[in-house]
Amino acid sequence: MVSDKDIQAAVEQLSAGNLVAFPTETVYGLGADALNALAVAKIFELKKRPSFDPLIVHIHSLEQINELVVNLDTRVEKLATAFWPGPLTIIMEKSSIIPDIVTAGLSTVGIRMPSNPVAIQLLKAFNKPIAAPSANMFGKVSPTKAEHVTNKLEGVEMVLDGGPVSVGIESTIVQLLDDGFKILRPGFITYEDISSVIPASSDLSKDEVIAPGMVKSHYSPDVYLKLIDSIDEVTQSDAVNAAIIPFKSESGLDKFKIVKRLSANDDLKQYAVNIFSALHELQDENIDAIYVEKIPEEGLGLAIMDRLKKAAYRFTIE
Ligand code: TXA
Ligand code: MG
Repeated sequence: MVSDKDIQAAVEQLSAGNLVAFPTETVYGLGADALNALAVAKIFELKKRPSFDPLIVHIHSLEQINELVVNLDTRVEKLATAFWPGPLTIIMEKSSIIPDIVTAGLSTVGIRMPSNPVAIQLLKAFNKPIAAPSANMFGKVSPTKAEHVTNKLEGVEMVLDGGPVSVGIESTIVQLLDDGFKILRPGFITYEDISSVIPASSDLSKDEVIAPGMVKSHYSPDVYLKLIDSIDEVTQSDAVNAAIIPFKSESGLDKFKIVKRLSANDDLKQYAVNIFSALHELQDENIDAIYVEKIPEEGLGLAIMDRLKKAAYRFTIE
């Protein structure tokens, strides 16, 4: 899928200040040299991303952190040992080497070490940190296959095709506090996973979600999307040209034009891997609506429902 020659060509693009889309285990990222402000500016321009929304910086080795961060917290090493490479972004105090555009002027930077083999290959070959948001237009559905990037994002110099991703929703973002930690964006690694490695706060709500880019509307498909409690809520006439993404329900589904079940046996990991890909496919069908049966908001379900609520939000206010 991706040859050494492709990696070399990608490194050349990054070194020239251009953009390269690449797979991570969570979603495809749109990468630029994190230490080149002009290159990073291209990311904001191409995605039409507001400049107040900071980017995540990707690394391949823990040593790289030393030049990127000041006042390194001892808990970072514990988290890195437990979860890196993997879908966890840790917020740290940034050094002056990171251009302000990367962090949207914040004094902190989000860093993660992805586990996708192509991502690691690219990061090692480039051997400099890569700033990368998800490779979609701002506010749209995140890409989980290379074709989602090539079909929806024009103007990327190069797309490395590493096949479909293995996690499917973006990394968990954690901020360390004097007393405990806070989850800024829920993801595959849960609050419980993190608190098994470092102490949790005594008094903070565990589902508070406050990353600056966490606007209410996000991941929005081109087709009307509604979250439902029960299949019965959708009338026959509404269902006839609509798709349903059921969770537990097995009956009452025949009235829909398309039934897209994301996980056999209600397996949330499989659900997470498939959700963005399903939204990409369904928004290209000739249908009026996508109905999604709600899933329980616990563990990984919390992260998935966070994405689904944001995908539905635009349609609740129109
Ligand atoms: O899984 C992921 O994290 C993917 C892959 C490509 O690594 N990246 C990703 O990036 O989801 P993006 O740009 O779509 O989302 C980054 C999120 C935004 O909500 C942003 O506000 C938050 O990370 N963020 C970045 N730096 C931050 C900081 N210093 N403090 C708080 N939040 C930060
Ligand atoms: Mg994104």
